[in-house]
Amino acid sequence: MDEKSILITGANGQLGRALRTLLPKARAGDREILDITDKNLLDNFDWTDVKIIINAAAYTNVDGAETDEGAALARRINVDGLANLADVAGKRDLILVHISTDYVFDGTKSDHLENEVMSPINVYGQTKAVGDEIVLKLAKSYLLRASWVIGDGGNFVRTMLDLGRKGVSPSVVDDQFGRLTFADELARAIKFLLENKAEYGVYNITNSGPVKSWAEITEEIFADVGIDLPVRRISTERYLAGKQNIAPRPKNSDLNLDKLRAVGFGPKNWQEELKTYIMKAIKEGK
Ligand SMILES: NC(=O)c1ccc[n+]([C@@H]2O[C@H](COP(=O)([O-])OP(=O)(O)OC[C@H]3O[C@@H](n4cnc5c(N)ncnc54)[C@H](OP(=O)(O)O)[C@@H]3O)[C@@H](O)[C@H]2O)c1
Repeated sequence: MDEKSILITGANGQLGRALRTLLPKARAGDREILDITDKNLLDNFDWTDVKIIINAAAYTNVDGAETDEGAALARRINVDGLANLADVAGKRDLILVHISTDYVFDGTKSDHLENEVMSPINVYGQTKAVGDEIVLKLAKSYLLRASWVIGDGGNFVRTMLDLGRKGVSPSVVDDQFGRLTFADELARAIKFLLENKAEYGVYNITNSGPVKSWAEITEEIFADVGIDLPVRRISTERYLAGKQNIAPRPKNSDLNLDKLRAVGFGPKNWQEELKTYIMKAIKEGK
């Protein structure tokens, strides 16, 4: 795989940043340079040396997508923008790598397999599910489904660290279960699939390790930093009471990792990676 033949879109997001670190010779652009919703821009882009597009661009504000304005934007980016990229990839015989989510499922089942029928329960998940269908029509595509992505950017771990440091005892839901996916692990899996010319199709990717609730993960974060504060465990129902425009979320977000392991990729344990992530965040003063 020639790194220089890779184009990364959405390069300033959590995954985009991790990809730029792992694939420094790849070309990369965020919305400013490479707005995926701008069909004209994509049509006039010089694709001569590009063989692989990794699309890290997305609308990821899950609650924001529940408003009319947010829903329209989510469709524009996650469906129309993706369709633009798929169009280019199809016409020019490029490989398209795209990222999806456990939120394409309603979460009544746990241990989701790659072939589970999609059943999204929020607007963001609906736009991602339509996107998955677009990508899967391509002859040369990798669709990686991740959950609970943590990288360089605003995310759950950072929010909980901030609250803990301020001495706030957070109320966190204890009835949504999953595993974290560190953005650098997601980037590593993408590179692995491409380098090893794995069969095209859908792959689940999260870090490995025990399936836990958000409340339990918060307790681990606090323990890792030595914050001696109780985490108030609450149900999703209680958390949502009186709030508006909060998207419903799946109860079970854990993804089955057998297919990824079968092609030779060993996902690292999220609890170990969490410690490393926190140490780095503290060192960098974040
Ligand atoms: N975050 C999660 O928990 C999670 C979980 C499962 C799956 N995923 C999926 O994983 C992928 C990466 O997520 P992430 O956490 O890295 O997301 P992120 O941090 O929100 O990054 C998305 C990036 O896309 C950019 N973008 C938005 N609209 C664009 C456009 N029209 N053209 C080009 N770039 C555009 C954003 O730029 P601006 O900042 O300027 O808007 C942002 O830099 C996404 O496909 C997401 O759906 C995420």
